[in-house]
Amino acid sequence: MVADRCADRFADHWADARKATQAARGGMHPMPVDNLLYDRLAAGWWDERGFLHSLAALNPARFGYMRRVLMEELRLTPTDLHVLDVGCGGGLLAEEFARLGCAVTGVDPSEVSLVSAREHAADQGFAIGYQRASGEALPFAAASFDVVYCCDVLEHVDDLRQVIAETARVLKPGGVYLYDTINRTPQSRLLVIQLLQEWRWTALMPPGLHDWHMFIRPAELERLLEQQGLQPIAVTGLKPRAGPLRLLRALRQRKRGLLTYAEAFDRMDLGESSDTSVSYIGYARKPLTGDSAAIGKADAGGA
Ligand SMILES: C[S@@+](CC[C@H](N)C(=O)[O-])C[C@H]1O[C@@H](n2cnc3c(N)ncnc32)[C@H](O)[C@@H]1O
Repeated sequence: MVADRCADRFADHWADARKATQAARGGMHPMPVDNLLYDRLAAGWWDERGFLHSLAALNPARFGYMRRVLMEELRLTPTDLHVLDVGCGGGLLAEEFARLGCAVTGVDPSEVSLVSAREHAADQGFAIGYQRASGEALPFAAASFDVVYCCDVLEHVDDLRQVIAETARVLKPGGVYLYDTINRTPQSRLLVIQLLQEWRWTALMPPGLHDWHMFIRPAELERLLEQQGLQPIAVTGLKPRAGPLRLLRALRQRKRGLLTYAEAFDRMDLGESSDTSVSYIGYARKPLTGDSAAIGKADAGGA
């Protein structure tokens, strides 16, 4: 009951944060975060110098975790899996799953980002199905996917509860939900908001990319997963392994144009950690029902 009240308070807090920022901006922006920047900067998803390409520098840590969970912990065969990438952007992660041999579908509200994703996948010879959609309204039948993931997306969505509900709906029984997101702590305020986004000596992220109030505590997410019928299995911290001096040097070098965004993120050396105070990665499963077959064995590609 206490956990339920906490999750409900979180939903209220989150809606209030959105309304407060909306009011502060004269009602002009429906969201505290500027999701339109994924349209404005979409040409940079696959440009080594582009800001959005910096997410590729996070792939070794986040894709490394997801591949390990699927292949080593759960012993799934990639070629048996139909995977849905919710908030796929330019397809930086979708292509990793396609390279692994999975059948991949990606959705994103940013049509311009999807154009970039489609072009790049075609150049690379990947048959990834990209569609315009938001996580709150997935255009797929129930129980369509073996695996759904949301990476660096949950802190950007309009309605987190609805995104989790939709994810649970489109997962097959036994299916796997993988995610990473940012924790709402003093540490994340300092690093992700102040250092990376606000302070002019160090900021390398565009203004409005993140709003601290939209960040999600692991316990809040766990509760939402459970409420939507998903069983949380594991959570691990994701943290820059570079010390403060190396981190500040990378930010200053980026400021002076001596490093690309991706190189600066690379030097921060994001990796798994027992410390979840900045960001974290984890997974949950949809329980098997009495008559359901194990995922990855039957009808992959059923969306
Ligand atoms: C930080 S980017 C992450 C992109 C990709 N997942 C990656 O890690 O490379 C956030 C993405 O979430 C998308 N997004 C924003 N609101 C969304 C929503 N309600 N449902 C699904 N995606 C959303 C944005 O358009 C953007 O492409």
